[in-house]
Amino acid sequence: MDNNKAETRTPAVHREVQLQRAVMAYIVTGIVFMLLPGTFLGVWNLISISNRHQLDTLSPAWLQAHGHAQIYGWIGTFIIGIGFYSLSKMGQLPPFAVRRAWTAYGLWAAGVTLRWGANVTGWHWRIALPVSAALELAGFLTFFATVSRHKANPGAPRKPKEPWMLVVIAGTCGFLFALLMNVFTTCQAAWLGVTPAVPHALDQRMLVIPVWVFLVPTVWGFNARWLPVFVGLQGANGKQLLAATGLGWLGVLLALSGYSLVAAVLFLIAAAVATFALRIFHRPVKAAKTTGVHGSFPWFVRFAYLWLGVAGVLTVWAAAADHAGGIWGASRHSVTVGFLGVMVFAIGQRILPAFCGARVLFSKRAMLASLVLLNVGCALRVSSEIPAYEGFLYAQLFWRILPISAVTELTAVSVFAANLLVTFCRPPAHLSVEAPRPAPGVFASVIAR
Ligand code: HEM
Repeated sequence: MDNNKAETRTPAVHREVQLQRAVMAYIVTGIVFMLLPGTFLGVWNLISISNRHQLDTLSPAWLQAHGHAQIYGWIGTFIIGIGFYSLSKMGQLPPFAVRRAWTAYGLWAAGVTLRWGANVTGWHWRIALPVSAALELAGFLTFFATVSRHKANPGAPRKPKEPWMLVVIAGTCGFLFALLMNVFTTCQAAWLGVTPAVPHALDQRMLVIPVWVFLVPTVWGFNARWLPVFVGLQGANGKQLLAATGLGWLGVLLALSGYSLVAAVLFLIAAAVATFALRIFHRPVKAAKTTGVHGSFPWFVRFAYLWLGVAGVLTVWAAAADHAGGIWGASRHSVTVGFLGVMVFAIGQRILPAFCGARVLFSKRAMLASLVLLNVGCALRVSSEIPAYEGFLYAQLFWRILPISAVTELTAVSVFAANLLVTFCRPPAHLSVEAPRPAPGVFASVIAR
């Protein structure tokens, strides 16, 4: 950006451009966490488990390093970045917003990196684990304080909050709850543990928190806002969506109290109610808006909800009959890779180029390839993990399929990352000669309140 241009901008526009830079830093950092500490380590873990034909022999700290990097390092970082972006569309941007965005970024990224490093290397882990959790919490609270104190344009009429907003707020409270519990579990591990891993039983119980009160409801909330525009679906039924969110919270409280089967049944019901509330499998009422993305995009949004249903069923089965971690693993990855991953690949390639400086996605074919590969990899993984880990008939064959699923997922993730990173390296749509401009007003109207 040349100096003349910078000088002619109003302070508000200048601030918005600076905020956009911070948002881009969040998204690129999320991609890096997804790729290396997250997926690469996940693939390494799965190949090691497949070689040994046993889950138990692998370091629990390495498994947790992978899970934490994916949930908080990838998706958590994306969500905070998108949260800061929406701030710029919700009214006057406060002067401190850009500083806060970078402060939150520094604390958050340092916390997630320290956690991964402590889990993988064991470096001063008794101190590093609680410090990492405190840094993550501090980063989140900086974000939370900025967003919750933000006011709409002065003079704008005060409107009651729409159901999708309430669901996103519930998801944000779930995020806070998950981070507070993370402080508790890391302090306990540091005080009582013998390795840099949270004890297995406690870790498994805690895993439902980020999934069912943070990630899944946040996706439902944003889906209720975006899918009627992007996919042409009917508007969501707000009461049903709020009921599904409430069932998720109830399920988590029951799971934490030790009633894992009842909790699993509630998660299944919550998934079914939310899918119905969002009208995912109803006939669309208008054409999908697929400008700038692959035309198959609406189908992948539906696939993600099929995965959510599969996850719900497998979670009930796991709570009733898992012996060797295979059904739990399959249910966990149906929801994390199948639902969350496929949704982020689909919606992320739709919105992130626009959020990061009004860009246009580099390649629609790469978008299709990443989504097909992720679904194929996830299907291979989920269908092989159960017979292999649980020692069912033909287990040897399924042990051989698992590494193939891991490499397929790694390829999918690499294509997704490359497509977005190349997109960010290209000039914004209004400066580019060959790229089509994004449909005017689509993103602004979807985000702006
Ligand atoms: C993309 C390829 C991926 C591979 C190859 C992979 C591999 C693994 C493996 C081998 C485990 C150990 C337990 C088991 O065998 O099931 C695991 C656990 C886990 N994974 Fe993944 N994973 C991937 C993606 C993801 C994603 C996208 C997420 C979240 C967004 C995720 C979240 C988790 C969590 C939370 C755990 C449990 C960690 C713990 O025990 O605390 N994974 N993964």
